[in-house]
Amino acid sequence: MSLLPFNPFSEEFTHDRYAVYRRYLADGPIHPGVVGQPGRWGDTWYVFGYNQCVQVLKDSRLGREGLYAHQPSAEPSVLNSILLLDPPNHTRLRRLVNLAFTPRAVEQALPRLDTLIKEVLDDLEGRDSWDLIQDFAFPFPVTVISDLLGVPIADRGLIRQWSRALTAGIDATQDRDTFVQAQKANHAFRQYVREVIRDHRAHPQEDLLTALLQAREEGDRLTEDELITMVTLLVVAGHETTVNLIGNGLWALFQHPKAWATVRAQGLSDRGVDELLRYDSSVQATSRLCNEPITINDTDIAEGDVVICLLGSANHDPQVFSHPEQLDLERYPNRHLSFGGGIHTCLGNTLARAEGRVAINALLTRYPGLRPLESQPRWRPGFVFRGLESLAVSG
Ligand code: HEM
Repeated sequence: MSLLPFNPFSEEFTHDRYAVYRRYLADGPIHPGVVGQPGRWGDTWYVFGYNQCVQVLKDSRLGREGLYAHQPSAEPSVLNSILLLDPPNHTRLRRLVNLAFTPRAVEQALPRLDTLIKEVLDDLEGRDSWDLIQDFAFPFPVTVISDLLGVPIADRGLIRQWSRALTAGIDATQDRDTFVQAQKANHAFRQYVREVIRDHRAHPQEDLLTALLQAREEGDRLTEDELITMVTLLVVAGHETTVNLIGNGLWALFQHPKAWATVRAQGLSDRGVDELLRYDSSVQATSRLCNEPITINDTDIAEGDVVICLLGSANHDPQVFSHPEQLDLERYPNRHLSFGGGIHTCLGNTLARAEGRVAINALLTRYPGLRPLESQPRWRPGFVFRGLESLAVSG
């Protein structure tokens, strides 16, 4: 029986996305499907296979520019984000941000993670049960990125609201109202960041925002608008995704008693974090616009078609990962695509991995008897970002 065009908004997909990925992948690495981006594009192709996703992510004939131009929340400040640009615009911004967001800056930030997670855990003190997502997974990444950038931690409630509205606006499952909310959040967030930048200009600090303000190369530097867009993106990209690494990771561990026992006894290792990232990635898909006709695995893709890499499916491709449905905390090598690939590979991947490891280990050290109070938690709607809405737990 031939498969229907792939529909990531279907009930079946919402219910068990990995079963649907498996079924399509068994039939072939690329399938046509329903339109993933609002716009006037050609056909939409979904890429299920690992090697084909890597090929798409590395092919310069497929880009990002223009892809979201028709989305209701699209406006220049969003469209000029590093994440949505192609070379040479992307190359320039990535070079400038790399001058500030250096491996050394991240390394220096790592010892702070222990202090910051302790503060989050102290806030839970005295409670018998709490919400793993809202009370634990959420406050940590937003605190870390605010601390790193030098954005006042006291405003993290506001930042969270804006960030949530903005990520919802990226996910094509959402309705028009969601896009309008995203637009409003973008305006408010930008105004807020503008003021934080003004303050940093007047009083330079030892933080990433000051480093971004000072980053210069061959006479080039970020304009004020570019800087605001970059800071906004760093907060949003570094926040929702990591909340979901912690939430999805812990949920996966709750479902696998043997892995859970190992982590409780020995702690979560670097390999373990990568396996949690692979097993149930917080970013499940990323799109590209085809700028020249190409052929991938006998599938002809025309100029103007949209190609969506299903990272969550690629991470479960049995041609690359043996027993992909097993959670194997010692899996090695583990070249998952949860941080994407090619020129847009996640800038914050080292920081995110460290945050995931520190958060889960600190939580289990403080609460060795941690357990979920629900057997069927609710997942947030949307297909690009995957994360739990909430999960009641008891220590
Ligand atoms: C578990 C956590 C994270 C996941 C799963 C994740 C995932 C991703 C993915 C898949 C991409 C590439 C998207 C594409 O190719 O279209 C990306 C890009 C990016 N990420 Fe992350 N991310 C995480 C955490 C972070 C953190 C902590 C930061 C910053 C502090 C960050 C900053 C960025 C930026 C700036 C880009 C754009 C890079 C570019 O376009 O050149 N991310 N991320």
